[in-house]
Amino acid sequence: MTFTIAIDGPAAAGKGTLSRKVAEAYGFHHLDTGLTYRATAKALIDRGLPLDNEAVAADVARTLDLGGLDRNVLSAHEIGEAASKIAVMPSVRRALVEAQRAFAIREPGTVLDGRDIGTVVCPEAPVKLYVTASAEVRAKRRRDEINSAGGSADFDTILADIVRRDERDSGRSDSPLRRADDAHLLDTSEMSIEAAFSAAKAIIDAALKH
Ligand code: DC
Repeated sequence: MTFTIAIDGPAAAGKGTLSRKVAEAYGFHHLDTGLTYRATAKALIDRGLPLDNEAVAADVARTLDLGGLDRNVLSAHEIGEAASKIAVMPSVRRALVEAQRAFAIREPGTVLDGRDIGTVVCPEAPVKLYVTASAEVRAKRRRDEINSAGGSADFDTILADIVRRDERDSGRSDSPLRRADDAHLLDTSEMSIEAAFSAAKAIIDAALKH
């Protein structure tokens, strides 16, 4: 039997960093499901295909190779915007959820992070975490990240962007961003990544003992 850890939350809440740390600590496979939406969007853009044709986007989603997902290539802002547009399409979601579920059963265990893992992709996961932080804290972290990478970023623009992304992710009718009833809430607004990891570890260790 495999062991699945579902980690959801809004953009820039720290769930990616936390998921990678958890996967490494337990020797589990990790899938950032946001990358599956981003890779589908990038494939459409690269092939000059429209971003508003659901049948075309679903065809591309069905042929996606989960092995070739590269965060560095897929992190561009425009790709994130395009991804959040195709993420509202039910047949795109069905295709990607099928691939994500196939990933989730890998041995000895898996960590999947995204928006709908605990609610839709892996509702039976023995551990569900909902990682969040205030929009201001998330915007500040993103700004610091961009600045330390040598870029220059305006706080108000980033904040507006995060709020808009939250609305799109929470407001869509198919699989909106939502905390599962049985998910543990981790509000990282005033928590370091180490503190968030310790809290997650305590929850996971307790579940593994069952
Ligand atoms: O987490 P991210 O920024 O890489 O996600 C890109 C987009 O994909 C985001 O707008 C929400 C969407 N997404 C989703 O709908 N469901 C998921 N499980 C993961 C991401």
